[in-house]
Amino acid sequence: MKDILSELESRRAAARLGGGERRIEAQHKKGKLTARERIELLLDEGSFEEFDMFKAHRCVDFGMEAEHISGDGVVTGWGTVNGRMVYVFSQDFTVFGGSLSETHAEKICKIMDMAMQNGAPVIGMNDSGGARIQEGVASLAGYAEVFQRNIMASGVVPQISLIMGPCAGGAVYSPAMTDFIFMVKDSSYMFVTGPDVVKTVTNEIVTAEELGGASTHTKKSSVADGAYENDVEAIAETRRLIDFLPLSNREKAPVRPFFDEVNRIEESLDTLIPANPNMPYDMKELITKIADEGDFFEIQKDYAGNIITGFIRIEGQTVGIVANQPMVLAGCLDIDSSRKAARFVRFCDAFEIPILTLVDVPGFLPGTGQEYGGVIKHGAKLLFAYGEATVPKVTVITRKAYGGAYDVMASKHLRGDFNYAWPTAEIAVMGAKGATEILYRSELGDKDKIAARTKDYEDRFANPFVAAERGFIDEVIKPSSTRRRVARAFASLRSKKLANPWKKHDNIPL
Ligand code: HXC
Repeated sequence: MKDILSELESRRAAARLGGGERRIEAQHKKGKLTARERIELLLDEGSFEEFDMFKAHRCVDFGMEAEHISGDGVVTGWGTVNGRMVYVFSQDFTVFGGSLSETHAEKICKIMDMAMQNGAPVIGMNDSGGARIQEGVASLAGYAEVFQRNIMASGVVPQISLIMGPCAGGAVYSPAMTDFIFMVKDSSYMFVTGPDVVKTVTNEIVTAEELGGASTHTKKSSVADGAYENDVEAIAETRRLIDFLPLSNREKAPVRPFFDEVNRIEESLDTLIPANPNMPYDMKELITKIADEGDFFEIQKDYAGNIITGFIRIEGQTVGIVANQPMVLAGCLDIDSSRKAARFVRFCDAFEIPILTLVDVPGFLPGTGQEYGGVIKHGAKLLFAYGEATVPKVTVITRKAYGGAYDVMASKHLRGDFNYAWPTAEIAVMGAKGATEILYRSELGDKDKIAARTKDYEDRFANPFVAAERGFIDEVIKPSSTRRRVARAFASLRSKKLANPWKKHDNIPL
């Protein structure tokens, strides 16, 4: 028996060593952790239960029959994050460059199937040279098996991808179908075709970092949702995100202990809106003043800054935030911000996370760039996402809510449950100046007359009371009491039931 136990131990030790000391050292030299070190940091201490530690590839081509490394380049299993179950896979670059073989894919599929069955998130840590070149089509089939599971799991369990090394070719499409992608700066990249192919085909000379690094994907392409300094920070932030999310669509998000007065009055909010309507202010100040302990987990913070998305808690409960940011492009909606917010709204709705919408929007951004780029279709995404969402929706208009953008931003007409406005709100078809210039074009030469007309329009429409008279705004609230009002609104909606008509699925304007 002793011999058998010691054989088990020695087999385990060999498996834990992956591709060996030399390759582990090379991994560390690149500033990267190993697959197992990453799992250790991600999960609660001692909680990891591994699957398929001894699984090996079945390839007999190109001398592979002589190269068997237990685990086949990916460590898989489950464990807990602050006591809540998650499934995890972590690609081991020290074993055949973390490349994906048929058996490597089987390991990932196994934990994805279990995650779906048992209702827990899947966290994938990607660090791979792509398809195992020695295996050919078997490897491609393996990818497709993973893709199919990504699709089936979408909206059932949260899926989070951490990109911590290479992720290229078709391999990018598995993370792309997950809910959130976090990248590590300077050591990770994602692209469909690498710099060499790009140079051959388009003559562009570009580095891997420029083409698909963390900065590119969080600032330009919006493929990724966050960029972090190193593996440790990316993993710590993933743990933080998990704390906001439900384990599956069958469960509610966790309720965390909170130490912040629900009825907290924030006098400073009464002066947040500048006297000059064209002056910006920082919407993030309002978000953090509403949130429990000012804790805000922002999603896509470096992209389309004119809209802010992320998670806070109110009374310990997770709330998704969508907010116009007057500091960037005056907070107007455009292609990028509509896409960003639409995806976020749909994530929240899929996982029963209530949505708080903070509105200060002067309208859609005009221009040929926007029209040629399809702002009609992209703007419609956000409209569609809000309209189909059945989760509790609370909206606060702080200042401008003009035109179509008023309708889009979780208005009463899109089944907003509570639609509040601050006294500073202006709900109108457009700003007073623009409206006057259209209505009184013939008087444009007479400055005084136009000024009087503008003042008249402002007096009539630049307020929340016309909308409140119609019931489109449920109540005009004091800015300082926003946290209390919003908290009470969400509390009253905890058992909200609303269902959309039966359909196979909708046809959101993609
Ligand atoms: C088998 C691979 C491999 C792969 C790397 N290795 N990629 N083995 N299949 N795809 C092995 C290397 O032989 C090497 O083995 C070890 O991993 C580390 O690789 P290095 O090249 O030494 O590392 P580095 O210099 O850091 O370069 C990393 C790399 C490079 C940029 C990822 O290895 C590379 O370009 N690999 C090939 C990438 C590729 O073309 N993949 C197929 C893409 S097509 P030793 O024994 O020396 O340690 C694809 C399609 C997916 O993925 C389709 C899905 C639908």
